[in-house]
Amino acid sequence: MGGVAQRQTFMSAPAARGPIVTIDGPAAVGKTTVGRMLAESLGFLCLDSGLFYRAVALATVRAGGDPDSADDALAAAQSLRLRFAPDPSGQFAARAFDGNRDISEALVSPEVDRTVSLVSRIPAVRAAMLEPQREALREGGVVALGRDIGTVVCPEADLKVYLDASPEMRAQRRWKERRENGGQMDIAAIRENLMARDRIDSQRSIAPLRAAPDALVISTDSCTPGEVVRAIRSAIAARGLIREC
Ligand code: DC
Repeated sequence: MGGVAQRQTFMSAPAARGPIVTIDGPAAVGKTTVGRMLAESLGFLCLDSGLFYRAVALATVRAGGDPDSADDALAAAQSLRLRFAPDPSGQFAARAFDGNRDISEALVSPEVDRTVSLVSRIPAVRAAMLEPQREALREGGVVALGRDIGTVVCPEADLKVYLDASPEMRAQRRWKERRENGGQMDIAAIRENLMARDRIDSQRSIAPLRAAPDALVISTDSCTPGEVVRAIRSAIAARGLIREC
């Protein structure tokens, strides 16, 4: 794999857009780690679609609304003027703005963590977030992460990847991550929580979590993030989207 690439720019006409790579998969499967490494190696922006739902949760709470109320969450969704920009520090993860206000840090607050799954299961909220997500991908040159990017938001993506791993492996990874961040949680409780989220995500009637029929499915149980990135880069190169040397 090459070193850190320069961020690429692409013409904005649809026919001349840059490549779009989508990575979907369940919670704690490694989408963020792999997506950021891949984006950095390609010089693409890494855009996590969870940020859209996090922004709705934040706006709902800030407006004093109830995140479990479709009316409140939809009103908050409609009030947002979301845009994403590359991090000026040179990182490839996108910073999020509502109008001119940088809300990147607020989106990962515990309050948003607690409320985001409530707003993201509301069909009207998902419908309202479709166009903003498509707009954010319009110019391409993006690695987009989520649950339904390859199936619903952008089925025309140049490469659709679906990452999978066993609940045991995902629980172990999440437990390690929490421990490194100073948190303490029982691994069995984490596994239960992940499996409950899997059930909600894959059984919901709108945009259930599943691999697109033409997705490259990678099981990450016995792979390092670097190995997964290399496998995805090979698939991108095989489609003629980049040249590996
Ligand atoms: O990936 P994350 O933890 O930032 O996602 C936040 C929430 O949004 C999580 O409850 C799953 C949900 N989500 C979704 O329903 N669809 C997406 N495309 C992305 C995230």
